[in-house]
Amino acid sequence: MRLISLARAQDGSELGRDVLVGRADGVPLLRAGVRLTPRYRELLDRSGISAVYVEDEASEGIVVEPAIDDHTRAVATRAVAGAYGSVRDSLSHGRRLTPEAVQGLEDVVARILDQITCSGGAALALADLSSADGYTFQHSIDVTAVGLLLGMRYYARHGWTDFRGERRFDRLEERMSILGLGLLLHDIGKLAVPLGILNKPGRLTPEEWAIMRTHPRAGVDMLDGSRWSPLVKAVVLRHHERWNGSGYPDGRAGDDIHQMARIAAVADVYDAITSDRLYAPARPAHSGVTAIVEGSGTLFDPDVVDVFRQVVAPFPAGTEVELCDGRRALVVSVNEEALDRPRVRILGRPGEAEEVSLLDDPTLAIRGWTHQPAATQPVAI
Ligand SMILES: [Fe+2]
Repeated sequence: MRLISLARAQDGSELGRDVLVGRADGVPLLRAGVRLTPRYRELLDRSGISAVYVEDEASEGIVVEPAIDDHTRAVATRAVAGAYGSVRDSLSHGRRLTPEAVQGLEDVVARILDQITCSGGAALALADLSSADGYTFQHSIDVTAVGLLLGMRYYARHGWTDFRGERRFDRLEERMSILGLGLLLHDIGKLAVPLGILNKPGRLTPEEWAIMRTHPRAGVDMLDGSRWSPLVKAVVLRHHERWNGSGYPDGRAGDDIHQMARIAAVADVYDAITSDRLYAPARPAHSGVTAIVEGSGTLFDPDVVDVFRQVVAPFPAGTEVELCDGRRALVVSVNEEALDRPRVRILGRPGEAEEVSLLDDPTLAIRGWTHQPAATQPVAI
């Protein structure tokens, strides 16, 4: 299976994974196994899908493991959609979201945590694609997966800091559940932002930006005061603060930003870059990794970025890359010892497939992600 841009996917190609559109009931737009037709391509294009996973000869045998299995994603989508719906109702009645209203969210955090733990902390390759239309729900779920994985490694290494400023390594499980809840709800305040601004395809005006920047505080206001952990609220309120003080809502810097919010900031930005949005198509994983690494010490906590580099694969299985000698290749699997040196299958003439682990060949490196050529250019091996 491989990831290919929609523009380049051939009619007749078999979809390797379900295509999700973030429907509240978790039903995919198209199912794995369906063959692409001009009508399906148009449907995908209209839904804001810029790339799909396909099964083809060149990628035969390449397994793409989603970070979150389809069942968990469907359950999570329903729970997040339910919480958003309940907030929407509550807002019109002047009430706030109570923890009882989101019992389902806690179950979702536990499920996602289970999956991440079961994968043995393996490098994360978010293989899940969803449309820009369903962005908010899917974004919340993906940010939760990335943030929990970061949190798990970060706490194991650095511990957490209590209110006396002491470092602790106990009660990590409880810590992770709270972090997960904060991640799932981090953007709930966007319900208070008019859709015209939220979904605007072009640049926001300064006035629109000012409204957009109210969403962290609006989010905290939506959580019923005394019943929520202050840490969940810290994630919601502070996920747009930046390490150097350039963020919002208050321009806090460094350690004045809660540890959990510093983790959430990295997960949020990474997922925003690598997801299809209404105003920007998804960029590949390595662009997201580069942006985070470049922001280390300025936008993001350098300790969190160090952990990020060790858990998020810049070149996940199924992606097409260009090697330093100009040859193109498909990533077969990620080497956990060096995430930027995966095992690859060189793309050549049919029948000439050659696989090499970049870990074993120091002369070879990945130069970058292959920009998708025209749709008429078939890929052969
Ligand atoms: Fe946000």
